[in-house]
Amino acid sequence: MADNKAILKAGDIEVELPILEGTAGHPVIDIRSLGANGYFTFDPGFMATGSCESSITFIDGAEGVLLHRGFPIDELARDSDYLEVCYMLLHGDAPSKEQYDEFKATITRHTMVHEQINMFFHGFRNDSHPMAMLCGTVGAMSSFYHSDLDVSQEDQRVRSAHRLIAKMPTLVAMCYKYSIGQPFVYPRNDLSYAGNFLNMMFSVPAEEYVISPAVERAMDRIFILHADHEQNASTSTVRLAGSSGANPYACIAAGVASLWGPAHGGANEACLNMLEEIGTVDRIPEFIARAKDKNDPFRLMGFGHRVYKNHDPRATVMRESCHEVLSELNLNDPLLDVAMELERIALSDPYFAEKKLFPNVDFYSGIVLKAIGIPTNMFTCIFALSRTVGWISHWHEMLSQPGQKIGRPRQLYTGSEQRKYQPLK
Ligand code: SDX
Repeated sequence: MADNKAILKAGDIEVELPILEGTAGHPVIDIRSLGANGYFTFDPGFMATGSCESSITFIDGAEGVLLHRGFPIDELARDSDYLEVCYMLLHGDAPSKEQYDEFKATITRHTMVHEQINMFFHGFRNDSHPMAMLCGTVGAMSSFYHSDLDVSQEDQRVRSAHRLIAKMPTLVAMCYKYSIGQPFVYPRNDLSYAGNFLNMMFSVPAEEYVISPAVERAMDRIFILHADHEQNASTSTVRLAGSSGANPYACIAAGVASLWGPAHGGANEACLNMLEEIGTVDRIPEFIARAKDKNDPFRLMGFGHRVYKNHDPRATVMRESCHEVLSELNLNDPLLDVAMELERIALSDPYFAEKKLFPNVDFYSGIVLKAIGIPTNMFTCIFALSRTVGWISHWHEMLSQPGQKIGRPRQLYTGSEQRKYQPLK
């Protein structure tokens, strides 16, 4: 609760603004009364703006801390599995064994999509970017569930959340299969969440697909590491779309669209393309110089973060996974050597330390995904698959909060003053 206040003196007004304290992190100045006093705040990019109250995820950018419902990400990545993380993000706490088993059974039984969804794919060129197909088909899902779109009803919200968590792997695998001209593979209820996804991605009717336990574990860990991340651009997009009462499938499609950008979820694809462009360790200095050149728009993909100014705890776990997967698959990817050397050089360069640019979650995920056999243009689809639980958990939390309002920011207007219109002669 507010136990101290900020005083704003502006022009001839003096306004007391409550300061609200959370469980952890920065206190916030409650500015809701400011509009009535004739002022707006101004914070393009929301560098210092809290958009909501949430209890799902906490990030301490200075200390490199990421908690989901209070549990540290490195502990979850090592000792939990994605479906357990999905449960805690969506339902508020870690499940009991019985709750986990029931949740897993529910998700497993929702993995198929309506057979008519197949036809949406045939409207796409087969060289379409998979994210274009995912964005379209996720949004189209709302046309199949007329009975569960009343977002004011908690049970309908939860059923939609279960459907989306269950069906995203199926849709993502369909995007891949369509792009390579292979038949869609139906989900299998006897497989794990990650194993089922790998089977839908890589099995073909002509032969048995054997799931490598190391790859299955790495896939599940990648899902965990990308599941949620507080009020990032795509999650904020989902919240804003959902604040108007839009249906959950349309909101998740909006999140997919926002994640696609190279500054956000598209960075893992861009990072691998960058590592491939660098090619060999001896070319790294050339790219470091470009990243430091103010006149060159080039940025080191996979480096930097709006919040983390120390290290991205997910990158640390992802780097471990990278080594595990490559050694367990007995792969020696020269790109990993380039990545490791790029990280070493960048972190020893004062420019990157001064700008607080460290590898983020996307830096190593691309190498692991490539090692698993996922093509580069599918990387952001995998990110969207994983982040769906975060998006829909924030959407559900927002709609569960009393007094929820439509999001409607204001602006600093710098256009023309009112003037007389002269009709065209
Ligand atoms: C994700 O928000 C989230 O939580 C996102 C995410 C999630 O899980 O949802 O964590 C996922 O999006 C991770 C980030 C993936 N993006 C990239 O790896 C793309 C490369 N990085 C950036 O473009 C950039 O670092 C951002 C977008 C991630 C953060 O940008 P900010 O916070 O707006 O910082 P900025 O652009 O103002 O940069 C600050 C300075 C600038 O220099 P100056 O103008 O101060 O001189 O740092 C420089 C930038 O030029 N800089 C970089 C750089 N990133 C920032 N210089 C070189 N290479 C980079 N990658």
